[in-house]
Amino acid sequence: MKAIVARDISKSFRSGRGSKTRVTKVLKGVSLDISLGEMVSIVGPSGSGKSTLLYCLSGLEAADSGSAEIMGKQIVNADRNSLFRIRREHIGFIFQSYNLIPSLNVLENISLPARLAGRPINTEQINEILNHIGLDGRGKDSPTDMSGGEQQRVAIARTLADSSDIVFADEPTGALDTENGREVLKVLRKIGSNPERAVVMVTHNLEAAARADRVLVLKDGMVIRELASCTAAQILEAMEH
Ligand SMILES: Nc1ncnc2c1ncn2[C@@H]1O[C@H](COP(=O)(O)OP(=O)(O)O)[C@@H](O)[C@H]1O
Ligand SMILES: [Mg+2]
Repeated sequence: MKAIVARDISKSFRSGRGSKTRVTKVLKGVSLDISLGEMVSIVGPSGSGKSTLLYCLSGLEAADSGSAEIMGKQIVNADRNSLFRIRREHIGFIFQSYNLIPSLNVLENISLPARLAGRPINTEQINEILNHIGLDGRGKDSPTDMSGGEQQRVAIARTLADSSDIVFADEPTGALDTENGREVLKVLRKIGSNPERAVVMVTHNLEAAARADRVLVLKDGMVIRELASCTAAQILEAMEH
């Protein structure tokens, strides 16, 4: 089964008012297929629309046109309720900013998506993940007492602990040091190798991108290249030519 089937996704943003209105075309017809059991990276220059593409594919942002199916369910023009249900049932998202709830402790933040979706919470697994990302014993702490890197690791643990079908990750290692970044990638790689799950990751880090099964190069709102099991050097080459 395909995790994601997207065809001709377009998205523009309007800014300013009246005669000063400007329209920026961010996505200009993106098509892609992502299977379960696959990890796919999206790379491209800053401002090329990578985050916007992830938001449109996960139903957080409405595409202007085109079609996008998540686990066989259309999300473009879907009504709010079905969109909410599709996101809750199938999607986990690691944001570039952490989106933690300050009034909940680390354990409560991590178990929130599973609780909302009515999926079982596996405390043993949560503790194992905390251990993996260097936050052993920090479950009762408040995110407000943590550094940026620690908060990002909690946000990642939240998505990892929740066994959603598709994990979207926007620059998941951006705020992490090399060692923690490597641990997070290891966990994402493991999820992407599970035949029932898929990972879509945006990253600036070409070494990280190369861990995926496929790399899509986004430029000027379009997928201009696609590479299968490649090296960081090959991705750089594809971005430059
Ligand atoms: N909500 C928004 N309103 C207006 N412009 C936006 C909005 N979100 C993104 N953009 C613009 O769309 C372009 C692509 O942004 P983004 O998807 O964040 O790129 P990337 O993640 O590749 O750096 C940028 O020019 C950005 O300024
Ligand atoms: Mg971005």
